Amino acid sequence: MPPIIETRDLTKRYGTVVALDRLNLLIPAGAIYGFIGPNGAGKTTTMRILTGLLAATSGQALVAGHDVAREPMRVRRLVGWMPDSFGVYDNMKVWEYLDFFAASMGVPALRRKQLVTELLDLVDLSHKRDAYVMELSRGMQQRLSLARTMAHEPQLLILDEPASGLDPRARIELRELLKELRVMGKTILISSHILTELAEMCTHVGIIERGHLLVSGEVGEVLHALQPHKLVEIRVLARAEQALALLPGLPGVRAARRVAPLPDPVLDPARPADDDGPATLNVDYVGDGTGLSVVFKALAASGVPVVHFAEQSSDLEDMFMQVTQGLAQ
Ligand SMILES: Nc1ncnc2c1ncn2[C@@H]1O[C@H](COP(=O)(O)OP(=O)(O)O)[C@@H](O)[C@H]1O
Ligand SMILES: [Mg+2]
Repeated sequence: MPPIIETRDLTKRYGTVVALDRLNLLIPAGAIYGFIGPNGAGKTTTMRILTGLLAATSGQALVAGHDVAREPMRVRRLVGWMPDSFGVYDNMKVWEYLDFFAASMGVPALRRKQLVTELLDLVDLSHKRDAYVMELSRGMQQRLSLARTMAHEPQLLILDEPASGLDPRARIELRELLKELRVMGKTILISSHILTELAEMCTHVGIIERGHLLVSGEVGEVLHALQPHKLVEIRVLARAEQALALLPGLPGVRAARRVAPLPDPVLDPARPADDDGPATLNVDYVGDGTGLSVVFKALAASGVPVVHFAEQSSDLEDMFMQVTQGLAQ
């Protein structure tokens, strides 16, 4: 089976602005792929090319093996597209909105009535069937918009920043809905400029910056690649050697070393070279905070007098800032 999305050296220029620069994207069927990058990175441009709304300058975009430029109608049937803005629909009721878009996708009138009911049920808006769309909350509008993308039962959903502007509760509802869609067999490409907004709901992520894909893969792999280790600084009042013997055997610890120099027997004859006084140690650690607390407990339990234990923080957002450092517009 071909990947559901593949781009080959996809390039888009708007005049002198290079929005996409030989982008090579590969998304397996069944993934929830988080497409992450700061504003202006090229997310919307990529998505519009994949949906056939925008022509590439060079390179190729394929959906389920079909070239978007050569078979636009075929691709359009495979893809449901949710743009980043809802638009203005005065005097249109919720059911009319879905009926209208289903009609424009060529769904016959007889089938539409049932389809609208099914879609409203799926996105939990049945009770708003006769409400005006402009009166819905932002979260409800996003769910309605999502329902609309599914009017022609596409296998791939492309959602441009659907979580932006949602409160935490609406975001959780969106996440649950995406999970449900995945169980239904849909592949989902979803963009955001906030990494943590997506990391928890995706199976795969890619980070794009200035039209380049910086990293892409399964969430765990990418996070691991981005965050190979943490540096932990430890100060002990004594027993540094004991700590250095113990640390490498603890889970997640890759290396441990003394950073504060030993006393010099010539310059400081009052303190012997094997002085067991205060010392600073650095530890390379791979793992999360819970695992790190195990390291701390093991040290303390062995009788090493720890007076300082500080992780050089690097959470997801920090890693994202490092990867895209200084490049954001
Ligand atoms: N219609 C357009 N005309 C000129 N430049 C554009 C147009 N659309 C987007 N761009 C530029 O292309 C780059 C990528 O934009 P976009 O794909 O919208 O990024 P994102 O969705 O990641 O914020 C930006 O530099 C943006 O200013
Ligand atoms: Mg955008």
